[in-house]
Amino acid sequence: MTASAGYMSGFANEFASEALPGALPEGRNSPQRVAYGLYAEQLSGTAFTAPRHANRRSWLYRMRPAAMHGAFTPYAQPAFHNAFGDGPVTPDQLRWDPLPSPHAPTDFIDGLFTMAGNGSPAAQTGVGIHLYAANRDMQGRWFHDADGELLIVPQSGRLRLETEFGVIEIAPQQIAVIPRGVRFRVVLPDGEARGYVCENFGALLKLPDLGPIGSNGLANPRDFETPVAAYEDVEGDFELVVKFQGHLWRADLGHSPNDVVAWHGNYAPYRYDLRRHNTIGSISYDHPDPSIFLVLHSASDTEGVGNLDFVIFPPRWLVAQDTFRPPWFHRNVASEFMGLVHGAYDAKAGGFVPGGSSLHNSFTGHGPDAATFEKASAADLSKPDEITGTMAFMFETRAVIRPTAQALEAAHRQRDYQACWQGLRKHFDPARRTPGA
Ligand SMILES: [Fe+2]
Repeated sequence: MTASAGYMSGFANEFASEALPGALPEGRNSPQRVAYGLYAEQLSGTAFTAPRHANRRSWLYRMRPAAMHGAFTPYAQPAFHNAFGDGPVTPDQLRWDPLPSPHAPTDFIDGLFTMAGNGSPAAQTGVGIHLYAANRDMQGRWFHDADGELLIVPQSGRLRLETEFGVIEIAPQQIAVIPRGVRFRVVLPDGEARGYVCENFGALLKLPDLGPIGSNGLANPRDFETPVAAYEDVEGDFELVVKFQGHLWRADLGHSPNDVVAWHGNYAPYRYDLRRHNTIGSISYDHPDPSIFLVLHSASDTEGVGNLDFVIFPPRWLVAQDTFRPPWFHRNVASEFMGLVHGAYDAKAGGFVPGGSSLHNSFTGHGPDAATFEKASAADLSKPDEITGTMAFMFETRAVIRPTAQALEAAHRQRDYQACWQGLRKHFDPARRTPGA
């Protein structure tokens, strides 16, 4: 078994990796007999007939086909679901403290808590937004999500993602994407971990086009890392948990499904270090729209409108003159779910803490709190501001993000969130034309 975490770099058209020499067939994908007595199996993440630039599939060479498992029965984990409801949705601004740590031993799957979402796996559009808080490795348990790819954003504690394609290790300020249907288990090197998961039911995440920015900038393709093949040859009592059409199922396995000795293709898990983001902003006046902070984009069926945009607010310099430097007050057609990996977010003086969440839905007004507005309005703009030691992010969607009943009722919801804007004073004076006079 090879368990070391090696990586291949780039958003490549084709990767290839083998844990034993010669395990990858040459010249064909599925020869009559595969080296080492392996089975060939194709894993397709897009329609067979998807255009070449969008077509994603991999060939796996494994000890046993993925078809070998017992019958599925429902698995009870009532906090992890896609029941976003179809009743009224509050237009309130919403904010939460971090998900409390579990008291009992809880692995990654049992530690998932669904906060919100839209669309559905059946419609193949929308997202599920979940938090996790776990304190135990997945023991003999493997998981795949047939409903969406999983964008995992750790906030506290490292994750070791043992996938069919190899091992991915991530720490806070890194992210991983596990494609639909890829089996994996989560090990917690630090004993406990907490973070965010966006389950993308729509088009696969990809790097955005850059337009006039040019051929470099934002997240660079070479910084996306895909694991090298690593397998284990273990028989015994294993469990496969599957998320399928919004519900969890389990089946017995007589072996570890981590038995892929070699693979090639372009449908594979990957990781990215958010600190590598080449962050771009204004050097004159007025900062650009937050789309300038885009990392990954899931397209909808309308050009330029995302099913999901993953955006970060990393450390950066603010140098614009005669301007209001923090994020503006705004109302958007889009809906915004935010999280904070560490540090402070520059639009809030307090209350939005690492591990916390906020939700500002379509056309719900929001922006800096009263303390931040007062400070920024009087700031000395002759000097640049350096925002350091922070990493906030946003899952932005075209459809309204529906909070779950359990998120609205949760003890960690801040029921006084709206008070942060109540201290904004009216400054209007028809006799005072000159700003600041
Ligand atoms: Fe916003």
